[in-house]
Amino acid sequence: MLLALFPIILSLSLSGFVEAQRPGNIIPEVHPPLSWQKCTSSGSCVAQAGKVVLDANWRWYHTQYSSSYACYDGTWHTELFANEEMLNQTCGLEGIPGYSEFGITTSGNALRLQFVTHPSGSQSPNVGSRVYLMADDNTYAIFKPLAQEITFDVDMSNLPCGIAADIHFAEMAADGGIAESGGWNTAGAKYGTGYCGAQCPRDVRFIQDHINWNYAPPQTPGFGSCCAEMDLWQANSFSTAVTAHPCTTQGRYKCQDDECGASAPSGIRYNGVCDPDGCDFNPYRMGNPSFYGSGKTVDTTKKLTVVTQFITDNGTPSGSLVEIRRKYVQNGVTISNPHANVLRVSTSFDSIKSEYCDQQKAAFADVTSFQAKGGLSTLGAAFYGVPNG
Ligand SMILES: *[C@@H]1O[C@H](CO)[C@@H](O)[C@H](O)[C@H]1NC(C)=O
Repeated sequence: MLLALFPIILSLSLSGFVEAQRPGNIIPEVHPPLSWQKCTSSGSCVAQAGKVVLDANWRWYHTQYSSSYACYDGTWHTELFANEEMLNQTCGLEGIPGYSEFGITTSGNALRLQFVTHPSGSQSPNVGSRVYLMADDNTYAIFKPLAQEITFDVDMSNLPCGIAADIHFAEMAADGGIAESGGWNTAGAKYGTGYCGAQCPRDVRFIQDHINWNYAPPQTPGFGSCCAEMDLWQANSFSTAVTAHPCTTQGRYKCQDDECGASAPSGIRYNGVCDPDGCDFNPYRMGNPSFYGSGKTVDTTKKLTVVTQFITDNGTPSGSLVEIRRKYVQNGVTISNPHANVLRVSTSFDSIKSEYCDQQKAAFADVTSFQAKGGLSTLGAAFYGVPNG
């Protein structure tokens, strides 16, 4: 699951012409409801009636003239459109016929994601999903987590090695990019558009002011969609990490060539605008092999509660981000993150702080891209708010 930006995160007409990165005209989009709560430190909570939406990449994208011609199905069918204007006029994104067929179900405040499913009418299985928490049917939920904490429960008991569950914040536009698209994106958050991340993914169909249709070889390599990212939960039943990824750019950034970093066609990983590695705290990597896992201090055979705190230098949301702190709650007991226990990292550290990142990168001989892209304070500035964000 993927949560749109920063406090926490998570129509169809049969007329002849519809709108491009536009909605299609066959399947209405109905978002599964997902409730959550906004709480104050005094403990009073207000229920939020959220919804979830599946990312645009999972959708049927076809010409309005014939439902049997896909505009994109792994390759762009450029025989159907000579240029971006034609694509815009021709192709539309459809609603999801049944979220459960993609393994996505909600019940009250619970979201369940299954990995491999077999949607009816599709010859190939669906593998994985990426969903966003919405404030309403046309707007992603936006979180501004500085001087706040975010808490969710997870059940990792069925998640083996080789697969990871992911919950993160990405610096996406609340409307899915409609406003900054200059008329190219009329589908927006309702259809799950506008993804970006610190790996600068190139497989997104719409980036800022363009349809990203010319990216795939053998066509001209196109663009990647970069933005700051905060990985709250990347885990399975064996391992877990919390990771911060700043970028030198603000908001969404359409990268090309080497500035795409992790997704650069040249393979040059560290010349990009974002930090692809991040500064992470993984208890196992940091020398605590008996902390997290089956039957361990945090027991992944059972449901557990994950708390992530974003601490600023002056204790207010306008302060500078100086620490990201993790706690767990299980069986009514609060469990602190363990302290670092590896050579050349001070055992005083049990959270992500600048000095911790410096020592950890040096200890593991990792590239200091986190520091080079601005570190915690730059990620904090993205949380605080960006133009168009
Ligand atoms: C794309 O198509 C829509 C619907 O026809 C139109 O409103 C919009 O202006 C077009 N965008 C561009 C950039 O031409």
